[in-house]
Amino acid sequence: MKTSQKSKEIIERDKKVVSPSLTRPYEFVVDHAEGSTIFDIDGNAYVDFAASVAVMNIGYNCKKVKEAVCTQMEKMVHCGFSDFYSEIPVKLSEKLSQMTGYEKVFLSNSGAESVEAAQKLAFWYTKRCGMIAFYRAFHGRTLGALSLTSSKIKHKEHFPSLRVVHSHYAYCYRCPLNLEYPQCGISCAQEIERTIFKRELSPKDTAAIVVEPIQGEGGFIVPPPEFHKEVRRICDENDLLLIADEVQSGGFRTGKFMAMENFDVRADVVCMSKSIGGGIPLGATLSSSEIMSWPPGAHANTFGGNLLAAAGGLATLEFMEDKKLGEKAVEKGNYLMGRLNELKEKYPIIGDVRGIGLMIGVELVKANKDPAVEERETIVKKALEGGLILLPAGDSVIRFVPPLIIKRNEIDRGLEIFENALKAG
Ligand SMILES: Cc1ncc(COP(=O)(O)O)c(C=O)c1O
Repeated sequence: MKTSQKSKEIIERDKKVVSPSLTRPYEFVVDHAEGSTIFDIDGNAYVDFAASVAVMNIGYNCKKVKEAVCTQMEKMVHCGFSDFYSEIPVKLSEKLSQMTGYEKVFLSNSGAESVEAAQKLAFWYTKRCGMIAFYRAFHGRTLGALSLTSSKIKHKEHFPSLRVVHSHYAYCYRCPLNLEYPQCGISCAQEIERTIFKRELSPKDTAAIVVEPIQGEGGFIVPPPEFHKEVRRICDENDLLLIADEVQSGGFRTGKFMAMENFDVRADVVCMSKSIGGGIPLGATLSSSEIMSWPPGAHANTFGGNLLAAAGGLATLEFMEDKKLGEKAVEKGNYLMGRLNELKEKYPIIGDVRGIGLMIGVELVKANKDPAVEERETIVKKALEGGLILLPAGDSVIRFVPPLIIKRNEIDRGLEIFENALKAG
């Protein structure tokens, strides 16, 4: 599928007026979507293995969410929820609280905002202003969240930072300490105590450790089972808060509503966004009543709790539960992972296949195990030409994060196109 004249014209107009800071991996102009298929403006259909960056877990054009948003639109679009009371954002907060066990919810509009709220809450609660995050982490691009982000130098160049020190994540395929799991004893996590607390940032000045349960933008990196437990232990022994950024991994993507549940670890503060709005901008920061006890004015916003997002979010969460999307993520994820592992046996360029549920990354490598950066770009583009949407992550990873409602025959079709792209790449 080649870029048509119609697409080219829109891209030209986009280039004239839209901020060039956006990162488009290829020239693809969308028109509409249904289920797990996106149609471009020329009517070509594409199997979607990216779910608009793990947002469309419920699939596109979900009738239940559409009806909920339209019904709310007829009644009232917006009320300043930081000034007035309204039932629908309360219902959404109750639902999130019931699904997670956290008592208090702060509503916002995006992932970065949910992270910023968590940061401010941790600063406020502990009265300390340092934080620890991880190499390859991505937490967003507003200045607070950006301080935690470490995935790419270009994300951070020329921008000032809060006081954040980065430590090693458990990237076992390329262990930063050159050790082997499990003999390593999760040494990467202990770097925080061994080095950071002694040389960089005292625990007395540290408000929180912020961690993605599975690193997303950094390369779909799944830590071994003990990693988050070690990080939790370090937080407990040093009286720090643990903030879990579930913006990409949450919403049943890994089978559980929160990916941290796979590791049997409970964070003190949780950030959610992306999939919980079903495509409508929605963010939520969750915590206990004890921690989220800040006074009026400490944090608020204009659009958090806006009625359309609240109606869409509530319908999304109900749909996720009704349709057992967690079970679907596990079942389809096992199938997809198995098929990708078969491809790994056939194509040496596939160095690693890893993931939980339908949050899967495929790391492409050269013969010497260096990241296959250019090859990844070619394969992603070839896949698009064949009718499959893939998005990159990390240095040479392709993410496989389709809508959780994807059907087995759609997975098969996508994999056929992926294999053709591998052959051509
Ligand atoms: C883990 C994580 N946190 C935060 C963000 C930022 O979310 P947003 O782009 O909605 O600000 C992202 C976005 O990809 C993310 O993956």
